[in-house]
Amino acid sequence: MGKITIAIDGYSSTGKSTIAKKLAKALDYIYVDTGAMYRAVTLYALRNNYVGTTEDIPALIQDLPNLALKFVPNKSLGMSEMHLNGENVEREIRAMEVSRNVSRVSTIPEVRHKLVEMQQNMAGKEGLVMDGRDIGTVVFPNAELKIYMTASPNARATRRYKELLDKGEQVSFEEVLENVQKRDFIDSTREISPLRKADDAIAFDNSDMGLEEQFERVYDFALRIIEQQ
Ligand code: DC
Repeated sequence: MGKITIAIDGYSSTGKSTIAKKLAKALDYIYVDTGAMYRAVTLYALRNNYVGTTEDIPALIQDLPNLALKFVPNKSLGMSEMHLNGENVEREIRAMEVSRNVSRVSTIPEVRHKLVEMQQNMAGKEGLVMDGRDIGTVVFPNAELKIYMTASPNARATRRYKELLDKGEQVSFEEVLENVQKRDFIDSTREISPLRKADDAIAFDNSDMGLEEQFERVYDFALRIIEQQ
């Protein structure tokens, strides 16, 4: 059986990464969370005051060649963690401050160019599950399986709010909902590679679907395609 590339795209907090991770594990494929890469660049930009209260995008662009982003496997957690210039930033890149600025950073063509190239270089002999916004449309337009996940803004904000509370962040539900809606808007209306469903992607609304049911469906799609390889 051949190995395939699986692209999972969709709005923020649709549960894409949970499904993608589970799928990669079941198939013994590599999992890549491209959002973590945009978040790491955003964290770098925030730390250097290139975005946030003041803005200096040309300085960020100038620093890009020196930014080392790496997924480092953490065996005890059974997942990879994002390292930025040798530092484990997995926790920091999930903070609200990064979420507030990441859509802005994701509109910068030079940032997208660098990250898309890195993502394309991750395809090899091994099977790959990659999640993001433009995987099926731009990064791997020839992916054998493309899934486009959606859920209502309320369902997504509720999930995200719970995750943040579990991590001990002090946020209100309204703030999370507003961030989800704002990111939806920027991500789907930006000029370069906006979030959209690839014509050959399978659309999947999971507002009222449990994790197991979603996984079973996606796993089934994947097995059927793999068998044909
Ligand atoms: O998947 P996430 O919510 O962690 O992604 C964070 C942001 O990164 C998201 O708001 C848009 C951006 N992003 C992108 O533009 N392209 C991708 N392939 C992945 C994420």
